[in-house]
Amino acid sequence: MSQHWDSLYSQTQDLYGISPNHFIQQIADQIPIVGKTLAIAEGEGRNILYLADKARRQNDSFSAEIWDYSKVALQHLSAKAQDAGFDFTLRNIDLSDVEWSKERYQNVMCVYGHFDENTQFKVLTGIRQSLTDNGWFIGELYSKEQIHYRTGGPKDTNYLYDPMLILSVFKNDHLHHFYVGEQERYEEERSKMSTRFNNKVALVTGAGSGIGRSTALLLAKQGAKVVVSDINLDAAEKVVAEIMAAGGHAVANKTDTSRPEEMKQAVDFAVESFGALHLAFNNAGILGEVNPIAELSIEGWRRVIDINLNAVFYGLHYQIPAMLKSGGGAIVNTASILGLVGTKNISGYVAAKHGVTGLTKTASLEYADQGIRINSVHPGYIQTPLIGEFEESELVKLHPVGRLGKPEEVAQVVAFLLSDEASFVTGSQYTVDGSYTSQ
Ligand SMILES: NC(=O)c1ccc[n+]([C@@H]2O[C@H](COP(=O)([O-])OP(=O)(O)OC[C@H]3O[C@@H](n4cnc5c(N)ncnc54)[C@H](O)[C@@H]3O)[C@@H](O)[C@H]2O)c1
Repeated sequence: MSQHWDSLYSQTQDLYGISPNHFIQQIADQIPIVGKTLAIAEGEGRNILYLADKARRQNDSFSAEIWDYSKVALQHLSAKAQDAGFDFTLRNIDLSDVEWSKERYQNVMCVYGHFDENTQFKVLTGIRQSLTDNGWFIGELYSKEQIHYRTGGPKDTNYLYDPMLILSVFKNDHLHHFYVGEQERYEEERSKMSTRFNNKVALVTGAGSGIGRSTALLLAKQGAKVVVSDINLDAAEKVVAEIMAAGGHAVANKTDTSRPEEMKQAVDFAVESFGALHLAFNNAGILGEVNPIAELSIEGWRRVIDINLNAVFYGLHYQIPAMLKSGGGAIVNTASILGLVGTKNISGYVAAKHGVTGLTKTASLEYADQGIRINSVHPGYIQTPLIGEFEESELVKLHPVGRLGKPEEVAQVVAFLLSDEASFVTGSQYTVDGSYTSQ
């Protein structure tokens, strides 16, 4: 069996992506991540790296021991930990015959630790005896009930937990979170939410700020499960916290959209976290270097084309197959008024946004008969950090309505385009510009 995992980890370092598991992100905000943590079946390391990084950002004392029975996974993790500046203790251990020592841990984490029934019992009792008096077992384990609820997890019931086993081993402990069946997990919160995007999974890039943030908040408020993706993970996590505080459902993801492998990872992460992908908003963007063409640096030109145009192609390239597998979907790409008309001194931005307009039209033609609608949104100047370099009063004069737009006003149009209410709308360019382009 360990050979099976060694072979998988020899093909890729990041079997499940690089972002932490959704449940670990949620729980890490609720319990102290301090002291010594044991992470079992954690060869990939994304969760322990996330916890260690969070503890470091909070200046908490933290150390970690990791057990896995894939040597290859542990080799990868050792390199990742070294790169991130962490000194973890790594042990190659087969949980079916491990002798649990007298060592005590503040936290023991086991995410998706699915083993045969004998090993389940050994692991749970081993964990119980290894916890300090006020320690935490952080486990995401699918129970046999998931077959009924048709959520994720193994399909073989021998590898699923009987909730009574967990309750009996931890019978004298406080159970902080104990869900049986994903469907019921958010029922109470969801009843307070609008149902426009119920059962839809959405990926929003550049969602840590401005237009992306407003759209992520709105989609979640209207019932979508949202992957809040941004190059700035702190910003994305804050948006997730806002969504969760309002009773929504979201998970943060760090992605530099200009890197195709990261864009792929974001799509895989959405599917892994929520089981499908139905909606995408390719929105991350920068203003880039402000200079006339003869003075614009080659590097400045390439950067804005990479982030504002190439990234939208990468998004479509990986999102479309995932949506086809999910039974269809809808995509909105953020262009700009400057994807329809020109302006001076930001030629790279204008060229990239015109590129997004053309790319969107072509994509819509290619997938119109396969259940995926693809549109672009073209905001005028919107009050976000992106326009920081410009004089606001000068920008206001450009808009016949006499003011700049707000990110929420763009979000409303994006949500409409992503919704079934726009069922006959594809390949369109929607301006949200206070009549800027009518002049
Ligand atoms: N603000 C405007 O006036 C305006 C007008 C028209 C179009 N737009 C477009 O709207 C989109 C959103 O801009 P905004 O105004 O909300 O800006 P913003 O700066 O508030 O937000 C942009 C977000 O994108 C993220 N980001 C930047 N580079 C990234 C990358 N490589 N990978 C992943 N994330 C990255 C940033 O971290 C930030 O959170 C952009 O595509 C922008 O070109 C903005």
